[in-house]
Amino acid sequence: MRNFDLCGRGQALVTGAARGLGFALANELKARGFDIIITGRDEKTLKAAADLLGASYYVCELAASGAAKKLYERIKADGHTLSVLVNNAGLGASGEAWTVDEEKDRELIAVNITAATELSKLFLSDACGRGYGALLNVCSVGAFQPGPYTASYYASKAYLHSYTSAAREEAKRYGVSVSSLCPGPLDTDFFKAAGANKPKTSMSAEKAAAYAIPRFLNGRKTIVPGFYNRLARLLPASIKAKYVAKIKGTKN
Ligand SMILES: NC(=O)c1ccc[n+]([C@@H]2O[C@H](COP(=O)([O-])OP(=O)(O)OC[C@H]3O[C@@H](n4cnc5c(N)ncnc54)[C@H](OP(=O)(O)O)[C@@H]3O)[C@@H](O)[C@H]2O)c1
Repeated sequence: MRNFDLCGRGQALVTGAARGLGFALANELKARGFDIIITGRDEKTLKAAADLLGASYYVCELAASGAAKKLYERIKADGHTLSVLVNNAGLGASGEAWTVDEEKDRELIAVNITAATELSKLFLSDACGRGYGALLNVCSVGAFQPGPYTASYYASKAYLHSYTSAAREEAKRYGVSVSSLCPGPLDTDFFKAAGANKPKTSMSAEKAAAYAIPRFLNGRKTIVPGFYNRLARLLPASIKAKYVAKIKGTKN
């Protein structure tokens, strides 16, 4: 894959960037000369993040039906042309598959799968038509294996990683780069929102983003921050799933 040399070229939309990994990814893109556009649900925190990034912002509940398309159309109607899209917004849910609240699973599927797919399609359609652009879909190391006690979350990230890998093969002949970012546990609000305990080994969002963005802009297919996460990727998925079941099962 060639170097796409997108530095400083146009505008980058990062969803869910008021905090956590999204904010750190937006900050890395800003440092490379992109004009930043961010989304989030709470206007006050979103505006504060946008001020720090010198970014434009759009308040958007991505779980609502048709929200991704409306967001994309609003951004275009405001005169923005995106050369980069980072589908970062996402959420987890924990517990036995059948005990997870129905609404939580619905929101998770709507944001992690539906909104990410819809935004990918809209962006790729424009980028492939123009002949440049780069899409980064934030997945997880959970994309590489089944996740007992986080079944829908790992499955949603497996979907997004597979979708991203397929779209990459289609988009590359139009000069458009498509990548998956698959972090391990991060030191963000994610686990609290998912009703789970944060692992002690969590990496900072800043470290993960600093690792990810140069590789993304260089056209890397799958980006896995952290040596041990890259090593664990080599283990058979069935063994990792049994290990996770044992560890998380004894905590329940
Ligand atoms: N933390 C981890 O261990 C970890 C590991 C691997 C992958 N990831 C992935 O990394 C991404 C960022 O997570 P994070 O760790 O930074 O967690 P976070 O701090 O909880 O941030 C999640 C972001 O997603 C947005 N979001 C959640 N639900 C939304 C909804 N219904 N509509 C619109 N936006 C919504 C949030 O927006 P608001 O600001 O409006 O709440 C927030 O900005 C996610 O895709 C996550 O799956 C995280």
